[in-house]
Amino acid sequence: MRRFKILATARALPPRVLTNAELETMIDTTDQWIVERTGIRERRIAAPEVATSDLAAEALLSACGSAGLDPGAIDVLIVATSTPDTLFPSTACWVQHKLGLRGPAAFDVSAGCSGWLYGMELAASLIAGGGARTAAVIGAEVMSRVVNWEDRSTCVLFGDGAGAAILTACDEDRGLLGSAWGADGTLARVLYQPAGGSRQPASAESVAARAHTVHMEGNTVFKHAVTAMSEGAIEALKRAGVTPEEVSLLIPHQANTRIMEATRARTAIAPAKMVSIVDRYGNMSAATIPVALDEARTAGRVKDGDLVAMTAFGTGFTWAAQVLRV
Ligand code: ACO
Repeated sequence: MRRFKILATARALPPRVLTNAELETMIDTTDQWIVERTGIRERRIAAPEVATSDLAAEALLSACGSAGLDPGAIDVLIVATSTPDTLFPSTACWVQHKLGLRGPAAFDVSAGCSGWLYGMELAASLIAGGGARTAAVIGAEVMSRVVNWEDRSTCVLFGDGAGAAILTACDEDRGLLGSAWGADGTLARVLYQPAGGSRQPASAESVAARAHTVHMEGNTVFKHAVTAMSEGAIEALKRAGVTPEEVSLLIPHQANTRIMEATRARTAIAPAKMVSIVDRYGNMSAATIPVALDEARTAGRVKDGDLVAMTAFGTGFTWAAQVLRV
């Protein structure tokens, strides 16, 4: 077991709500289609001047405020994102820039929707190995900047937001009891942003072809997501030595209610234990699980010592699942 205690969690969500009804006026879609296929009713959209690090910094400051912690006490700052402010430096360094923080190691994790769980895995190992005492793991995305707003098959799915957790070393039996993670790069092109990197740098042609936006084969993602998220969760439970009945909450990545429900059914965790926020926020990629965890904590759904199972799947493909004792 890798021991740590969660000092605080927090979330930052842009105030602007984009409803399905408003999308009906923008593209050829209906509220009914979106709700039936995805469960999404509305999502948040960041104001034009707001970047990923702004949401990340807001969530981090809010978490530090609830923990009564000086941000300077954090010795590693990890931001999971697929929508960084810039390709370099990392969004984590932009967060430091914004907060005037000097010193702590800061870097981004690029693992799509699995990114925050990847970050948790790293932070837990750093704390267990003595490489860090207090770590901040933030999932933050401004997906609205990489969505093709003329592609109805993708633009209805995503939203913007950030969630943060501050972890600190402890001697109690808390932290990650079991986890599983992995990736399959052979499926990299099933869900990706083709341009903007070294393969296809930005050009007038790449912009005209909308190659800087999300390209996705939705059906393929769907199939792999259910398998990887459920098998990951089952493996994490097994490694933790925990039964589905002992789990208090299941937080699956929130891309689509059908994927979430199929994952839950295969893990045999009771329906009432599943956290669902996808109707209000859509898919916030790496920000989804920390926002859902924070909402569950705020709502009193997580008690001291509870077991929380989390599972995610994302571009790469990547997957990660963890059983956390809070
Ligand atoms: N409104 C109305 N009609 C639409 C829309 C829309 N927004 N989008 C697509 N359609 C149409 C299609 O054009 C198609 O029409 P056709 O039959 O005339 O060709 C029809 O609806 C069915 O399209 P499908 O793609 O087969 O619909 P499906 O039931 O597979 O649902 C969806 C699509 C919701 C994208 C689904 O495949 C899915 O959820 N996939 C998972 C992808 C995902 O969640 N990715 C998120 C990122 S990855 C991650 O977070 C892990």
